[in-house]
Amino acid sequence: MDKLIISGGYPLSGEIRISGAKNAALPILAATLLADGPVTVGNIPHLHDITTTMELLGRMGVSLIVDERMNIEVDPTTIRELFAPYDLVKTMRASILVLGPLLSRFGEAVVSLPGGCAIGSRPVNLHIEGLSKMGADIRVEGGYIHARAKRLHGARLVMDLVTVTGTENLMMAATLAKGTTIIENAAREPEVVDLANCLNAMGGNVTGAGSATIVVEGVDNLRGTHYDVLPDRIESGTYLVAAAITGGKIKIKDTRPWMLDAVTEKLRETGADMEVGDTWISLDMHERRPQAVNITTSPYPAFPTDMQAQFTALNAVSEGTAMISETVFENRFMHVHELQRMGADIRLQGNTAFTRGVGRLTGAPVMATDLRASASLVLAGLVAEGDTVVDRIYHIDRGYESIEEKLAKLGARIRRVPG
Ligand code: EPU
Repeated sequence: MDKLIISGGYPLSGEIRISGAKNAALPILAATLLADGPVTVGNIPHLHDITTTMELLGRMGVSLIVDERMNIEVDPTTIRELFAPYDLVKTMRASILVLGPLLSRFGEAVVSLPGGCAIGSRPVNLHIEGLSKMGADIRVEGGYIHARAKRLHGARLVMDLVTVTGTENLMMAATLAKGTTIIENAAREPEVVDLANCLNAMGGNVTGAGSATIVVEGVDNLRGTHYDVLPDRIESGTYLVAAAITGGKIKIKDTRPWMLDAVTEKLRETGADMEVGDTWISLDMHERRPQAVNITTSPYPAFPTDMQAQFTALNAVSEGTAMISETVFENRFMHVHELQRMGADIRLQGNTAFTRGVGRLTGAPVMATDLRASASLVLAGLVAEGDTVVDRIYHIDRGYESIEEKLAKLGARIRRVPG
């Protein structure tokens, strides 16, 4: 297993380009199953989760062509099997996103239940309940969801809680349903909007995405198209925190600053000078130590849970005390124990991490447990004295394209070694 070795203590400086968003690319690749012809998806990040999705589609018999610029042409017309096996779903929960499209387009789907993961139990009951309300006949047996429907029908779906992939699954299913579907208490994440834009480019009729009420008028068929995935807001935020934690100065390009308002606001509170253009954000920490910031995670447009671990690392070395409350997932503090091994002063109580900033962290061997937790360990390594060795970095490769190359371009001393 590869490891990352980081020698800390060098302020980041320079410019990097932000990649396409993982959490937009995954539902959009699933949405291609709805089309009557080939869909080409551009600005796809080079990530392990994308490879897993391609493998999943490939095993169904879907034809895939990837060009050298990572445009992926998906031709769903060659599909043979309406099946998502456990061995793939267990490695990537987002595989559940094929359930809605398969059922809606082909009238049948057998998809493994994802089960729990490192950040909580993460059930998919709301995906199943929504599809049932749209007329699907669903039973769960032997760890698999078996779903059938002649043609789904529109329904009013009031979501118990805000779920991102739940909203996406139901929105995709509704595009080919008969009649109107209204999703209330829908997730408002930019990735949901990107998916809706892609569905509309395929001939769908989705309105209201980005608000809490999404209305989908079912159409008889969707066509092939070309669609470019939006930039990754969590990758954007992670590099901004990397600069802040090292006292550095960077500019990130090819991003969408409006998607990051809650994050940039918190970075300003840390004392960073920030400037924002149409497609770029710059941050200058002037080699100062950041101020610790209080945070509560919540669905978009509030502060994202996917940036919680990175800010926990930032608070660990900042001036002052602060608390971070995690309200989206029940168990998303695995990084805290690793940060403590690097000398962080963090106390966990329920869903809140209380930090007292320390003057220095020391490099240590640490273990990545999930994607964002791993990112926080890399960030801590950038400021720690000595070498930090991050093990199990396959978690990072799921969601950060060429992280060591991008950080090295910004002046970090980081290298990947085969394990
Ligand atoms: N939930 C239920 N029942 C459901 C669905 C969700 O109880 O049927 C609960 C979850 O257990 C959780 C909360 O609802 O407590 C919110 O979960 P959500 O469904 O919104 O999460 P998700 O759709 O599985 C996506 C992202 C995650 C991100 C969350 C929250 C993708 C592929 N994944 O997950 O991304 O943390 O939304 O914003 O879009 C990551 O990129 O590192 C990552 C984990």
